[in-house]
Amino acid sequence: MRSHYCGDLNTSHLDQEVELCGWVHRRRDHGGVIFLDLRDRNGLAQVVVDPDTEEAFALADRARNEYVLKIKGRVRHRPEGTVNTNMPTGEIEVLAKEVEVLNSAETPPFQLDEHGKVGEEVRLKYRYVDLRRPEMAEKLRFRSRVTHQIRNYLEDQGFLDIETPILTRATPEGARDYLVPSRTHQNHFFALPQSPQLFKQLLMVSGFDRYYQIAKCFRDEDLRADRQPEFTQIDLEASFVNEDDIMGVAEGLIRKIFKESKDVDLGDFPRMPYSEAMNRYGSDKPDLRIPLELVDVDDLMQGVDFKVFSGPATDPRGRVAALKVKGGAELSRKQIDDYTKFVGIYGARGLAWIKVNEKAKGLEGLQSPIVKFMEGVVDELLARVGAEDGDIIFFGADKTKIVNEALGALRCKLGEDLNLYTADWAPLWVVDFPMFEEEDDGSLSALHHPFTAPLCSPEELKASPGGQLSRAYDMVLNGTELGGGSIRIHDQKMQEAVFDVLGIDEAEQQEKFGFLLDALKFGAPPHGGLAFGLDRLMMLMTGAKSIREVIAFPKTQSAACVMTDAPGEVSQAQLKELNLRLRAKPQAEE
Ligand code: AMO
Ligand code: AMP
Repeated sequence: MRSHYCGDLNTSHLDQEVELCGWVHRRRDHGGVIFLDLRDRNGLAQVVVDPDTEEAFALADRARNEYVLKIKGRVRHRPEGTVNTNMPTGEIEVLAKEVEVLNSAETPPFQLDEHGKVGEEVRLKYRYVDLRRPEMAEKLRFRSRVTHQIRNYLEDQGFLDIETPILTRATPEGARDYLVPSRTHQNHFFALPQSPQLFKQLLMVSGFDRYYQIAKCFRDEDLRADRQPEFTQIDLEASFVNEDDIMGVAEGLIRKIFKESKDVDLGDFPRMPYSEAMNRYGSDKPDLRIPLELVDVDDLMQGVDFKVFSGPATDPRGRVAALKVKGGAELSRKQIDDYTKFVGIYGARGLAWIKVNEKAKGLEGLQSPIVKFMEGVVDELLARVGAEDGDIIFFGADKTKIVNEALGALRCKLGEDLNLYTADWAPLWVVDFPMFEEEDDGSLSALHHPFTAPLCSPEELKASPGGQLSRAYDMVLNGTELGGGSIRIHDQKMQEAVFDVLGIDEAEQQEKFGFLLDALKFGAPPHGGLAFGLDRLMMLMTGAKSIREVIAFPKTQSAACVMTDAPGEVSQAQLKELNLRLRAKPQAEE
């Protein structure tokens, strides 16, 4: 029906007859001449309808925003003084000869230019209208371009695109499963995959050697700005590889798409052990654009007459850390109070601080609610954090986990609030993760997933699981975990040892993972892989504020789709077929 996209027209089309199809973005009546901005997925073109073309004029006169039109006309220069340099098509316009109304439209629930005036809920309810906004359309076009580059890269490297099932058994990745009741096997349930992890490992056992998939994953977990219950991974796995091989392929992929889509050279990807990331940045996904670091001061605080500090400083599971902010002495009382509230979210019970007004004056030159306790250690403290006049030093003192989380988050917040960024992009690999982390009840859980290979023998693992490191690696960009993976266990004994440590007994091992343990007996090659979160990657690359902006039909924060009204109720007949009966909804808690 069309000869060109509206957004593609330029002066190279001057004097050509064109046919355009699109939506009325705006309609203006200028002294008898009608201007229509016609919009399609590639952009806007200005169409001029003159009263001389009577029939076309009458139709254009009737057209309202979001009507669907077909226009036939001639491309011409805009008259002098009316050129719009802000628009790619701003030098030309189309003089219409024929106008056809392909469809009318009711007044949309919001004008595209005024989307900010309605809440996100309305935009999600009428998502098909929201996606007409050029910024939204551009994000999805960008996503399509990048996935094309990803496929090209991986295919060139010999990876095969193989699909894995959606109706399957649980894959443990640390979230709750989405369950699907089976009609043909009553009282039994499928789980939607939290990732294709087990299937990609089985494909390695089958000898496919290199697999990839742009795969949907499902996780019922607490949602945040960078999490969706249904999201997409760039998932890959390869055989006869070590960590460097997988990290090399993955890094090459990210470098390539940044170069091709954004003309950005990402530079070096430093490798940082997990323990160093936690110590220096309080996080296993440090944002290295921010030049602030946590500094241990336990040794200095052990003897001070301030229980809040000396307690954690002498507790092996405690930590006292300092965070110096250059020029931070200018922060107001109110700002410090706000930061104190902020760290409270992470469980911190306070946020002690010292303003360094005039170092040369010793204690006199410091301003702080805790300075009286610091006599005797203050010189060494200031030297250790490298404090200068005009700086502020914040302190966290508590269980190590709380201090890391609180000061780690404060570091990022200060980076953003005070615009401390020293680079646009700061990628890195975090390596040498512990195999397990201790839960509050003392039990161990897998830090990655239970198929990750440890850096020790099964015997060593069983003897002292707590301190063992794994062969896992995470790629982090600007404080976001973009992807993670590991070299896997390909030895049945080792896999059983890990399940043992996790407290999964033999019966449960057989019931849940018997097929994997079997496969490991039948010639499993050494293998490893990684998965990137595609949505997170798109969010970072497009600068979107939320993951929902880069997904065509996302779920809300409460994991619902307001457009289709899913999840919805089902009929009694369907429930009966599934042999299910619903209980009354639990009463809302007081
Ligand atoms: P992991 O659980 O680390 O690893 O997931 C890989 C990447 O997927 C992204 N991601 C998410 N994105 C949006 N919403 C979510 N709810 C969500 N959860 C995870 C993150 C994360 O880095 N099977 C392993 C990979 C492997 O070992 O090969 C896995 O799934 O960017
Ligand atoms: P207080 O003794 O409660 O008056 O606290 C003195 C200062 O120490 C205040 O600035 C508190 O915010 C801070 N503070 C209290 N508990 C902690 C903690 N666990 N970590 C860091 N600072 C704290």
